[in-house]
Amino acid sequence: MKPIKTKVAVIGAGMVGATAAASLLDMDLIAEIALIDINIDRATGEALDLSHMTAFPFNPNVNIHSGSYDDCADAQIIVVTASAPMPDVNDKNGRMALVNKNIPILKNIMDEISSRTKDAILIFVSNPVDIMVYLAQNYFDYPANRIIGTGTLLDTARFRRILARNYLVNTLDVSGFILGEHGKTAFAAWSQTGIAGIPCENLDVFIGSETPFSKVDILNEVKMSGMEIILSKGFTNYGIAAAVRQLIQAIVLNELSILPVSTTFTGEYGIEDVAMSIPCIIGSNGIQRTVEIPLSDAEIDEYHASGNFIKSVTDSADLSILTKEQ
Ligand SMILES: NC(=O)c1ccc[n+]([C@@H]2O[C@H](COP(=O)([O-])OP(=O)(O)OC[C@H]3O[C@@H](n4cnc5c(N)ncnc54)[C@H](O)[C@@H]3O)[C@@H](O)[C@H]2O)c1
Repeated sequence: MKPIKTKVAVIGAGMVGATAAASLLDMDLIAEIALIDINIDRATGEALDLSHMTAFPFNPNVNIHSGSYDDCADAQIIVVTASAPMPDVNDKNGRMALVNKNIPILKNIMDEISSRTKDAILIFVSNPVDIMVYLAQNYFDYPANRIIGTGTLLDTARFRRILARNYLVNTLDVSGFILGEHGKTAFAAWSQTGIAGIPCENLDVFIGSETPFSKVDILNEVKMSGMEIILSKGFTNYGIAAAVRQLIQAIVLNELSILPVSTTFTGEYGIEDVAMSIPCIIGSNGIQRTVEIPLSDAEIDEYHASGNFIKSVTDSADLSILTKEQ
């Protein structure tokens, strides 16, 4: 009998990969975690340090170790955080500046994974995440529904948290999504945002806040919070690790949770051939389907603008080492 175990491979044992691995340790859902990195010392050190967490009673006895791409063969989930170093904070292109450096890394990783498995669900974190997802889904022979980009899942968490803080309520009572690019053209689906069923425009009346409701200020805070963290500590890791954990829980438990993640559009809102975030039903097969939530005309225009921006960066990227799947 084949052993029953849930195995996760994490490719890239840097700040995000190691923190994501740590966040998986106490889930009681994962039996084995393999850390893979071109920097073998880094993967070995992080795995050894993390393995000591399992000696404490609040952690199950997870087999966490450094590994190689052969660990992908029997992994159910593979998290991709491998990346060239982040560009300088003053680079006006932000995370998009990583595109030409991370395309060869993506090709290397997709070739290594797809020669060993087509069954694992791949969670992409590496930036620019929407372009990485688009290329992984469209330039490699790998099932597209089994490739998920964390996309605006983190931005949505920040959005809900900011609203919850402004109205002094539990974040879980806030509904709403940040959609589109994981980046500067992301937009809030205000028409579907609220707290306990109260539409956002009525929050000041029904709940009340010291900070009057302002779409501009809230969205600005969402977009600036990543940069604020990077300016103060150099990288972000905890929020994104929690996003990875939520996706893994949704997959392992077949939760069918509706989460905003990045995937290639196939006509949603009249958009195709670009990957960005849309609410998706996430379960054991990865992306079960996209959900076209009702949006205002202005929000749909923002979706198109976001998609056009991602397309323009993709079109100007060096894709010469890739071959598009038919
Ligand atoms: N999508 C999001 O919301 C989000 C949030 C935070 C960070 N990120 C992105 O995640 C990525 C990782 O961030 P980080 O802070 O962990 O960076 P990091 O520099 O700490 O780690 C990157 C790791 O990737 C490894 N690596 C590089 N090339 C590799 C290859 N070919 N194979 C295997 N490993 C390789 C490096 O050795 C390094 O250990 C970045 O692209 C960052 O922009 C995305």
